[in-house]
Amino acid sequence: MHDDIEEILLTEQQITAGIDAVAKQVTDAYRGVEFTVVSVLKGSCIFASDLIRRIPVPLELAFVSASSYGDGTTSGDLEMNFFPAEGEIRGKHLLLVDDILDTGKTLSRLKAELTKRGAAQVKSCVFLDKPARRAVEYNADFRAFEVDDLFVVGYGLDFAGRYRNLPFVGSLKKEAYAGVVDG
Ligand code: IMP
Ligand code: MG
Repeated sequence: MHDDIEEILLTEQQITAGIDAVAKQVTDAYRGVEFTVVSVLKGSCIFASDLIRRIPVPLELAFVSASSYGDGTTSGDLEMNFFPAEGEIRGKHLLLVDDILDTGKTLSRLKAELTKRGAAQVKSCVFLDKPARRAVEYNADFRAFEVDDLFVVGYGLDFAGRYRNLPFVGSLKKEAYAGVVDG
C-alpha cells in the first residue's frame, strides 16, 4: 500500500499539530454552547475521533453519510443518510466534520438539509480544504490544513475505498489509478 504513494504531503507529526490547533479554535468557539459533532462518513471518522478527544467541553456525537456515486476521483451525485434521529437535529448547534472540502457540494447540501430539518445552527470543520476546486460558494468555519489541487489519500481519505488507514496524507502514483474503470 505504501508503495502506491508518490509523495507524503502531511506527516503524522504535522497532522497532530494541525489538529491541536484547529481543536483549540473549535473549543473556544463553543465554550458555553452545547453542540453536536456530526461526523460525515466514512472519510471523517479518523479526523473526528482525533478532533473530539482534544475538545475538553461538553459535546454529543452523531453521524451522517453522504456518498458520491462511483469510485472516481471527482464527486458525483450524492446519497444522504442521517444517523441522528430528528430529535437530535431540531434546535441543535451542529458542527459538521468532514475529511475534505473540495467542490463544496457535499457540505453545502448537508447544511441545507440539516437547516431544513430544524437545526439551530450548522457550522463545519474540515481536515483538508482544497479552495482551488470549489464549484459552489461554501467556506468551512474551521479547517486544519489547506492543500493544492491534487488528489490525496490517507488519514481517512480514500481512493476506490482504499488507503483510509494510512497514518499520513499522500498523493498517489499514476500506476495506482490504472485499472480502476470508474476513476
Ligand atoms: P465535495 O462535495 O466536492 O466537497 O467533496 C467532498 C468529498 O469528495 C470528500 O468527502 C471526499 O470523499 C471526496 N474527495 C474530494 N477530494 C478528495 C481527495 O483528494 N482525496 C480523496 N477524496 C476526495
Ligand atoms: Mg471519499
